[in-house]
Amino acid sequence: MLAITQDKPGGPESLGLTEVPDPPHGADEVLIRVTAGAVNRADLLQREGHYPVPAGASPILGMECSGTIVAVGGDVTGWQVGDEVCALLAGGGYAELVAVPSPQVLPIPAGVSLLDAAGLPEVACTVWSNVMMKGGLRSGQTLLVHGGSSGIGTMAIQVGKAAGATVIVTASRDKALESCRALGADVGINYGTDDFVEATLAATDGRGVDVILDVVGAKYLQRNISALALDGSLIVIGMMGGTRAELDLGALMGRRGSVVATALRGRPVTGPGSKGEIVAAVRDHLWPLIAAGTVRPVIDTVYPLGEAGQAHRRMAEGGHVGKIVLKMN
Ligand SMILES: NC(=O)c1ccc[n+]([C@@H]2O[C@H](COP(=O)([O-])OP(=O)(O)OC[C@H]3O[C@@H](n4cnc5c(N)ncnc54)[C@H](OP(=O)(O)O)[C@@H]3O)[C@@H](O)[C@H]2O)c1
Repeated sequence: MLAITQDKPGGPESLGLTEVPDPPHGADEVLIRVTAGAVNRADLLQREGHYPVPAGASPILGMECSGTIVAVGGDVTGWQVGDEVCALLAGGGYAELVAVPSPQVLPIPAGVSLLDAAGLPEVACTVWSNVMMKGGLRSGQTLLVHGGSSGIGTMAIQVGKAAGATVIVTASRDKALESCRALGADVGINYGTDDFVEATLAATDGRGVDVILDVVGAKYLQRNISALALDGSLIVIGMMGGTRAELDLGALMGRRGSVVATALRGRPVTGPGSKGEIVAAVRDHLWPLIAAGTVRPVIDTVYPLGEAGQAHRRMAEGGHVGKIVLKMN
């Protein structure tokens, strides 16, 4: 099969399309002929050699895909050759074929194209597991999403609105904030020109927000706690602003707040807290919202697989809104 490979970690120019052996599939796996994959921020770190691949995962980039099942392992139930699906991957999505454990496979939601579905699994599973399962966001509450125009952010806005919450977002460009408002965001804060804590407190009559979905990490830790409502939850899923910061426990206690940090990729396939558990919850609760048109995939750009380096440049430069998709050539 053809796949994107690298001789060694490096910049976008290190990515090349080469012929590699087809992946074997295990008894609990299906083999998918990939229609499209999608770019995630972690792919850029992995390309540079800063993101170790989980044990047993394909070294090929790509944490999600859509396509058609072409082979089914002996222990797999519920999936058949010919099924059109999308899947959460531990790796291997920048390729024509990928093997994936069957609990990580999802049907294509009604009304969504096979191409657009490529960008759904990672954001759907990350947002649902953090905002709803971990954060327990409820109707009438307020959600703050940092990086509202990102792949993650565009899904989080829509999930927050579907839950009946008020949604506040941050972004660095006014144009991106307009796109966030078009997706349902109630308040947009340009974090380059405005202090997000002041703006959040002003937007909530000084109350603060119930759930924060944060991709910045250390740089925002203290300010995020200042923006929390009583009993609020700060959920850290990214470390774009560093990993180490001092935590003021007094401030956190004053909010009766909680801080959690989670990662999806290294979770086991099955069992408590597994990818399989999250995928099942997404299928039960989020897929019907997508089928109803309440939540939709947001696609920024589609590149041919052979232009994966160009797709990485697009993400690194910023200014994209939603997902960057890689279509098989
Ligand atoms: N833990 C997990 O399981 C998990 C899973 C998936 C993704 N993630 C993380 O989620 C983040 C988004 O991923 P993605 O693939 O959707 O990437 P992406 O589309 O490139 O988004 C990155 C976003 O971060 C925003 N950002 C950067 N610095 C910021 C700051 N100081 N304040 C507010 N926003 C800031 C950017 O906003 P501007 O462009 O407006 O600056 C951009 O919207 C990444 O950090 C990724 O690693 C974590």
